[in-house]
Formats: sequence, C-alpha cells, structure tokens
Amino acid sequence: MYFEYRFILVSGTGSLMNRKDSDFVGSLRRVVGDAFVLEDRERVSDYLKERRGRFTSDTMAVVLPGSTDEVSQLIKLCRERRVPMVPQGGNTGVCGGAVSTERSIIVNLQRMNRIRKVDRLGYTLEAEAGCILSNLQMAAQDKGLYLPLSLGAEGSCQIGGNLSTNAGGVNVLRYGNARDLVLGVEVVLPSGEVWNGLNALRKNNTGYDLKNVFIGAEGTLGIITAAVLKLFPQPVHRSTVLIAVTSIDSAVELFSRTRKETSDFASSFELMSRICVEAAFRNIPGCRDFFDQPYPWYVLMELGDSTSDGISKQLNERFLEHAFEDGLIEDAVLASSDKQASDMWRLREAIVEAQLYEGKSIKNDVSVPLGAIKPFIERTVAALEARVPGARSFVYGHIGDGNIHFNLSQPRDMDGDEFFSRWHEMTDIVHEITDELDGSFSAEHGIGLLKTREMLRYKSAVELGLLRSFKAALDPDNIMNPGKVIPPAE
Ligand code: FAD
Ligand code: MLT
Ligand code: ZN
Repeated sequence: MYFEYRFILVSGTGSLMNRKDSDFVGSLRRVVGDAFVLEDRERVSDYLKERRGRFTSDTMAVVLPGSTDEVSQLIKLCRERRVPMVPQGGNTGVCGGAVSTERSIIVNLQRMNRIRKVDRLGYTLEAEAGCILSNLQMAAQDKGLYLPLSLGAEGSCQIGGNLSTNAGGVNVLRYGNARDLVLGVEVVLPSGEVWNGLNALRKNNTGYDLKNVFIGAEGTLGIITAAVLKLFPQPVHRSTVLIAVTSIDSAVELFSRTRKETSDFASSFELMSRICVEAAFRNIPGCRDFFDQPYPWYVLMELGDSTSDGISKQLNERFLEHAFEDGLIEDAVLASSDKQASDMWRLREAIVEAQLYEGKSIKNDVSVPLGAIKPFIERTVAALEARVPGARSFVYGHIGDGNIHFNLSQPRDMDGDEFFSRWHEMTDIVHEITDELDGSFSAEHGIGLLKTREMLRYKSAVELGLLRSFKAALDPDNIMNPGKVIPPAE
C-alpha cells in the first residue's frame, strides 16, 4: 500500500492531542450543547461508515453545530488546540473524504438544514449546507422551479457535501456540475472567520472568483455553511427512453446525433453494460429487463421541456425513428408513463448498490474525450483481463459527459482481501490508459484519501505547488480535513 492514512494524519498535523482530552470535549459541548456532541461508540458508528470498506474511520467526537456562528466557534477552538476537523455531510462520498481518526473531530452539518429563501423571480434558492439534496429539489418544485442537481444518493447527501465534492450526477449534460449551479457560498475559514459570499447575482465581476476555491475542495479549506443555487424552469414534459445497442460506437454516435436532432434538449445520456443490469436484476428488488433478449449495451436518455404542448416526446420519437433507419439501434422502449420512466431510472441507479452484493469492488471514475470512449473501454477491459483473470468490469456512467464508471468486482474464485491487495496494480492500469487518452482520473467523485497518489502522479509540479500554497495560505496549521486531496510532499 502507498501509505497508511492513520500515519499521515498523526504525523501531518502536529496535533497536540495525544489522548482524548475531556476538557476539550467539554468546551465543544459548551458551544453546541451537550445533546449535540456524540461520543458514545454506538451513536458515532454511522458517522464512521465508509461505503466500500477501504478505510477505517474513528473520531474523538461527532459535533453537530446548529449555526454558522457555532461552526466558527468550533473552528477557533480546534485551531487553538491544533485538533484536526473533518467536515461531514451525508457521508455518501466515495473517496474517503469524510473519513476521520481518533484524534480528529467530525463536524456534521445535519442540523443546519434551513431553506432560507426560494426566489421565484430571480430563480434562486438559498439554503444551509446541511439540507438534504432531495429536500431542496422538492422546495424548488413546490414553487414550480427546478434544481437539476440529481444523483443516486440525493435522499441522504447534503448540499454542503455536494458542493464540496463538486458532484456531477445525471443532469450534467444540460445543466452542468454542482459548480455550475452555484451563485454564492458562505464559508467558515480555518481561522474561524466567516466569509459571507452569499451572492445571488448572475453577474458580479469583482475580482477572483473565490467561491470556486471552496467548491470541490472536499473540506480542506473551510466549512461551507450555506449557498445560493441557481434554479431553472421545471421541465413539465419529459420523454425517457431505454435503448439497446450492440456497440459503444453506436452509443457515441447516438449521443452526437441527439445533441443536434433534439436541439440539446437531452438532460441525461447514460450508458450501462449488460453485466451491470444483470447485477441489478439479481440483487435489487423491482429491477427488471425491458427487452425480450439481452444486449451488450444500453443507453438511458431523457429529454425535458416546459413548453405548453410538450415538444420532448415528438423530438425523441423522430430521433429514434432516424436512428432505427440508420441501423444504430437494436431495440428501444419509450416510457409510456411516469412509472415506466422511473423503473428505467431505478435500473440505472440500482447499479451502485447491486455491485455491493457482488463481493469486493474497486471503483474508478474517469473521463475521456468522447472520441476516446471506445478505445478506452476496449483497451482497459483487455489489459485488466490479462492482469487479473476473472476480474469483472462493470462499465457504466454518464457517457454524454465522457464520464465512465469503470468498476471492478472481484473474480468469483478469488478471496476479497487478495483482490484488494492488488488495488493499485488494477487502478494504475485504468489511470495510465486514461492519461494516455488525455482523460481525467477523477471525473466527478473527487480525490478524498483515495486518489492522492494519482494527484502526485498526474498533476504537474506547478499545479501541486499552487494547491499546496492555497492550502498553506488558508490553513497554515493544517487542521481542516488534513491528508485529503493534497498529497504529502515526497
Ligand atoms: P460527504 O460524503 O459527507 O463528504 C464528502 C466530502 O465533502 C468530504 O471531503 C467532506 O469533508 C466534505 N464536506 C461535506 N460537507 C461539507 C461542508 N459543509 N463543508 C466543507 N466540506 C464538506 N457523485 C457524483 O458526483 N455523481 C453521482 O452520480 C453520484 N452518485 C452517487 C450515488 C450513490 C448511491 C452514492 C452513495 C454516491 C454517489 N456520488 C455521486 C458520490 C457523491 O460525492 C456524494 O454522494 C455527494 O456529493 C457527497 O455528499 P455528502 O453530503 O454525502 O458528503
Ligand atoms: C453513479 O453515477 O451512479 C455514481 O456516480 C456511481 C458511483 O457511486 O460509483
Ligand atoms: Zn456517476
């Protein structure tokens, strides 16, 4: 293994805490109230879960602040005592960014869940960082508006976590990543100072765009406590189709045509391989096949509009007709009801959970230029099969964004720990090919603890230097989520 996480945190922070300090925990209690400092093992266990069992997490205490001012007081205390803090949202991240050690405190924002304002005229929403994403989607919908950020974890993840990981999801194609949906943020800095950057303007060209330093920083530069988000007209009409194709080439060609033939009305264009949907049929209740024979690849596409007569269905039908005529599509099911559309989405979103039942898995989240998707998949599958015979490649993702989730499940006849012991060998293959094809080793999940090694390998010395100087300028004592994102100097 490249490094031990525990080692980095202890040696990297200069922590003064060599044992649990009850005075310190007492001062945390005075800030947020006794009920909101959790120490009991059973109560903290949910905050220590790490989805894929890759990292172990521990903590001195989980603290649940109720206001920006409390966050600020907590940070000042931690800074004074050099106690590392790990900001945490819904703990659904997949790169170990919210993993902690026994010497750190976890600051979970769940109590900061107020929606401050939905501005119907300005198409904006201001909310505290601990709001669950699906609650924000509903608040927008209640006003006839639309918050397009959408991902499988939306019932548990918090908007603060979404912004901190610059989450992507299934609507990036049309609306962009989390970063593109933010107008302003409020952040408590590692000094304890509050930066109120809650700008709701579309135009504000007044110097460096500071909000973007904190978006995607994975809690290493401060704690996001609130944000102003962009809203859109609610798509009243949707047209969802599941398409069966025989090759990646056809899927990519379909995508390129969709853009033109539907006037960029597509909000989602998702790819799933047969092995992925089979795992969903096997492991997740309610998932079923939509076709009477298996196909190697499936595309799930959705168009949406808010015109009075609903143009999406018409556009979709015409697009499918042409694609059939040109032999790009083997079969297609156009959803005829909301229920059928949501069953199609269920199949797509079930893949993540379904893979958990298939033994240990190694997740890769890469992006490559669209023209390189086919060579990427073909070369990577072949190289991995040669290196670890029997390893099962689960290939799916947001193909319209060039984003492939290239996940590996352990061979059926290999022990899970043995499979994990070959982690780097396998991810190196995936990332080397990605790099050769001018791609990115982390398209939407971020870096956390999981990919600091890749940061060292693929980022230039200049870029690493810039990252380190941002970190040192804002967090000179390295108390804010240390060990995450930025690799230690070699
Ligand atoms: P956490 O997991 O709690 O934290 C993530 C990181 O953000 C950590 O580094 C943490 O320290 C930091 N952080 C959290 N809150 C704050 C805050 N208020 N201030 C500063 N730092 C903070 N991701 C995608 O991009 N696209 C997908 O399609 C997608 N699908 C998913 C599907 C499933 C089923 C699951 C489990 C995850 C998926 N993810 C996806 C991963 C994604 O990163 C997270 O789901 C989500 O964005 C993280 O939010 P969270 O509140 O759970 O953050
Ligand atoms: C998804 O697109 O379903 C997620 O980003 C995949 C994942 O969590 O691996
Ligand atoms: Zn994804």
